[in-house]
Amino acid sequence: MFDPSSVVVGLEIGTSKICAVVADVTVEGTFRVLGLGQAESRGVRKGEIVNSAELPELLRHALKEAEEMADVEVRSVWLGVTGGHIHGTYNKGFHPIASDDREITEDDVEDVLRMAKALNLPAHNHPIHLIRQHFGIDGEVTENPVGMYGNRLEADVLVLHGNFNRLQGAIRAVKSLNIEVEDIAFNGLASQLAVLTSEQKELGTLLLDLGAGTTEYVVTEDGIVHHAGVLTVGGDHVSQDLVTGLRIPLGLAEQLKVEYGSASPDDHLPGETLELPSGNGLAARSINREHFHRILHARLEETLQIIEQKLAEAGMLGRLQGGVVLTGGCSQTVGLVQLAKDVFQLPVQIGEIHCVAGMNEAVNQPEFATPIGLAKYGSFRVQRQLASGGRFNVRRALSQLFGR
Ligand SMILES: Nc1ncnc2c1ncn2[C@@H]1O[C@H](COP(=O)(O)OP(=O)(O)OP(=O)(O)O)[C@@H](O)[C@H]1O
Ligand SMILES: [Mg+2]
Repeated sequence: MFDPSSVVVGLEIGTSKICAVVADVTVEGTFRVLGLGQAESRGVRKGEIVNSAELPELLRHALKEAEEMADVEVRSVWLGVTGGHIHGTYNKGFHPIASDDREITEDDVEDVLRMAKALNLPAHNHPIHLIRQHFGIDGEVTENPVGMYGNRLEADVLVLHGNFNRLQGAIRAVKSLNIEVEDIAFNGLASQLAVLTSEQKELGTLLLDLGAGTTEYVVTEDGIVHHAGVLTVGGDHVSQDLVTGLRIPLGLAEQLKVEYGSASPDDHLPGETLELPSGNGLAARSINREHFHRILHARLEETLQIIEQKLAEAGMLGRLQGGVVLTGGCSQTVGLVQLAKDVFQLPVQIGEIHCVAGMNEAVNQPEFATPIGLAKYGSFRVQRQLASGGRFNVRRALSQLFGR
């Protein structure tokens, strides 16, 4: 058994799979994955729970598997959230420095961030992350204003927010098992924490997590998350296109996609076919491989082009000196790296999960980036609590994790 105070659990209730990761962290910050449990997801569409009837049983299964592998009891989780309702909004806060000597204190920074957070969110929306972009003192940009002098402190922040009721679905499902939710975190930020190196975060890198029902995108530069969002399109749409285009059942489409799929329309011999034997009431079939690959290519190219367009509109494309890093199950599609290179005109690679000591190779898969990143997000707090013997401002520390 491990010391329960150093254990941290990440949980993703994804469109295709529920995945729990149990990890532990030392005072020095060494993060180790101890166990991973999974269950096939049901009742989740585009990253959101639409039918919770079977969810408690599936969650229990995934958590039990992770508990047994890690030999710990799971009492609380860091829960991932995603969905088309999650958006990023930039906001500014101002705060007059009231002290006689005009020295800026940590409390002034807290006050200006509180101001920056109090933006007019759409009705029923809830802030998930407050990410510092930079501070200003009397109009001059500064990285860390504490200890400096001025009359007026300013803060530019990116607020990631989502619909309160839609965020509650996953939280309620976890609580129904008498398991606490320590906090929620956006899946894209979690994946980014799991795979990006400090160099990539400094240079400017786009993280794309291509899942079954959603694709999250996150831009990090100078160590700060500048832009993030969700496109509610993923691998399920590719499979659904194969159902329509090839007139085959969904289960078979999913299987063919994973076993033989390619995002490159040229990845075939002239006239090459896939021979499907008869079975399950279907006659034997011959599928033209070029046609098959063209269906995958069209959907994946369109998905990447939509994101490229969104980033261009937000002025982010020029900030990606570190290129593009792909995570999520769909990133394993043959030919996807080349397709993304063609769309973004940037270097592209599949994310390697890093900073995980003693990790079993089986866990280093791009579809586990989100739950591992969620555990990592939680481990940051746990480590600091261990180091400070409990005297630690959690809110302040987490707000610093994705920005300065
Ligand atoms: N080798 C492969 N080739 C192509 N696609 C794959 C492969 N392996 C998995 N996938 C696809 O990846 C998707 C699942 O990815 P992932 O596990 O990251 O999704 P998820 O986290 O459950 O969903 P989401 O994050 O969108 O809610 C499925 O659409 C699956 O078909
Ligand atoms: Mg996912």
